[in-house]
Amino acid sequence: MSYPYQIKSFEGYKEAYEQSVKNPEGFWADIASHFHWRRRWGSVLNWNFTEPKIEWFKGAKLNITENCLDRHLDDAGNRPAIIWEPNDPEEHHRVITYKDLYLKVCQFANVLKNNGVKKGDRVCIYMGMIPELAIAVLACARIGAIHSVVFGGFSAQSIADRLYDAQAEYIITCDGAYRGAKDIPLKSVIDDALIGNRTVKRVIVATRTRTAVSMIKGRDVWWEDEIKKVETLGMTDCPAEEMDAEDPLFILYTSGSTGKPKGVVHACAGYMIYTNYTFVNVFNYQPGEIHFCTADIGWITGHSYIVYGPLSAGGTSLMFEGVPTWPDAGRFWDIIDKYKVNILYTAPTAIRSLMGFGLGPLQGKKLDSLRILGTVGEPINEEAWHWYDEHIGKRKCPIVDTWWQTETGGVLISNLAGITPAKPSWATLPMPGVQPLLVDENGHEIPDDAADEHGIISGNLCIKAPWPSTIRTTYGDHERCRKNYFSTYPNLYFTGDGALRDADGNYRITGRVDDVLNVSGHRIGTAEVENAINMHAGVVESAVVGYPHDIKGQGIYAYVIYNGTHGDETLTRKDILQTVTRIIGAIAKPDKIQFVSGLPKTRSGKIMRRILRKIAEGETANLGDTTTLLDPGIVEEIKNGKL
Ligand code: WT7
Repeated sequence: MSYPYQIKSFEGYKEAYEQSVKNPEGFWADIASHFHWRRRWGSVLNWNFTEPKIEWFKGAKLNITENCLDRHLDDAGNRPAIIWEPNDPEEHHRVITYKDLYLKVCQFANVLKNNGVKKGDRVCIYMGMIPELAIAVLACARIGAIHSVVFGGFSAQSIADRLYDAQAEYIITCDGAYRGAKDIPLKSVIDDALIGNRTVKRVIVATRTRTAVSMIKGRDVWWEDEIKKVETLGMTDCPAEEMDAEDPLFILYTSGSTGKPKGVVHACAGYMIYTNYTFVNVFNYQPGEIHFCTADIGWITGHSYIVYGPLSAGGTSLMFEGVPTWPDAGRFWDIIDKYKVNILYTAPTAIRSLMGFGLGPLQGKKLDSLRILGTVGEPINEEAWHWYDEHIGKRKCPIVDTWWQTETGGVLISNLAGITPAKPSWATLPMPGVQPLLVDENGHEIPDDAADEHGIISGNLCIKAPWPSTIRTTYGDHERCRKNYFSTYPNLYFTGDGALRDADGNYRITGRVDDVLNVSGHRIGTAEVENAINMHAGVVESAVVGYPHDIKGQGIYAYVIYNGTHGDETLTRKDILQTVTRIIGAIAKPDKIQFVSGLPKTRSGKIMRRILRKIAEGETANLGDTTTLLDPGIVEEIKNGKL
């Protein structure tokens, strides 16, 4: 594979950027011409942000798996597609070549067909990080079924909500998953999620932990048995389903500022082109290199930069089942040396947590295969950036700070490794085809001459025009998509983030400006956590805000009005945490719970989060205007009780 569209110099970036803005259709058509199509497109782009309607490569026919698998077989069939490192370093790793992966995907696609799965059906995937997860995802894509991967840390209730929202009829799961010293009973969580479910017809269970599971007759089947069945039937190859460019490829649920998580929908062609383009350019990927993205495939980062980006580029993707700190905090470094990893892509949270172990775990680790480092998911503080640069990259690896979102499908703002300059804690420049702008509360673009003495302007980050992997809709509710992303500022996509821009056009993302938290790089809506807390029998009302956390970036601070009678405060706190774990999952557990007798509300009953946020941040001196509060006295009480 060669990548004729790979940018080679800063000049080249500037040219590509200019082209992409002057003639977006020509620019993307050129790139798209390097992919495998069953039929070419009629028009490159049709769009408006009012409905919104976004169509890329309309009329084209393709299957993304032919681009990720079939087209590499002749030249790179024996090249590793996926290298899998198990949780336990004592267990054998697996190397899956393109030829192997092709066969396994076809085989499992036949299993899906044999179990009644058809094009357009929704398949929920709830698995640990084993190769079968990637195989399941690709097998869905092969037959045109829409995958909805749910991260293995979500609770039964969260799965039930997602199954219902997507009206999913099929589930693929494992008996259990290993994560560090833990052994998570995934199938048993699925069983709980299915109590009262009326849509799911079939659950396919892959073996991993051999923990005891209940297999329900007529509903549950073993992955391995089903493979044997299709083998017996002689079903080996599986022709790829011909998909329309705009057919949905997958749904991925993510949190917003209100209500239940929404199902972000991505479309086949645009998502394929954009994840490939950004993979090749952001990481300056060279054929044969080993790319290690430490995310879970349950998040968009894993979808785009473990599975689809690297595989569509014929790359080698390293997939790791475990956690960075088990059996010890040298786990990542051992993996890098073991496989001679060239590109490491991880989250600032992981870097900060590993920094906390000091330099001991780096003793004796070479790390000399590393060429490029990347971060994703949250702002990176300068201290962590320099530690990463000095101790991991040994000051010779460019670091890319990649800003993007579940809704954007791929990286929108980032430096290009070794090609465009890095600036610590700045995501820097937009990718070709991406036109960001900063606006004030009223949607007016902030002009360059509004800059401060350092030449910096600040505002809410929007994007002017679609890029190929723009969110197409929120599953089953297009109006929600419009309201959430395209109505705050007319004719703009609103990201929900605040940002700065310097005189050179570099962007620094400062964090969410809506009621969404970013805890260890994971998105959690405050309303979602509040709803979960409020489910607890003794809770009257609650308000949740974020506060700065040394490792997680943001921690969750909950103010709770409690009138229950059961037990003492410590026990009640535990009960509330247990409730949140049941309703959402352990990732949404508040770090701090403060019991209060009331919440600061305006006369119209709106909670003044600004005040609660300041108190949680420890900034109690300057709380701003509190005169509009119904009961200003409550602020004193809350201040005095701060944890
Ligand atoms: C939110 C999106 C993108 C995949 C992982 C998270 C924050 C993401 C950065 C970055 C500062 C970042 C934003 C964004 N974010 N990358 N490089 N610098 N902030 O995807 O769960 O959809 O969350 O993560 O606040 O809106 P997500």
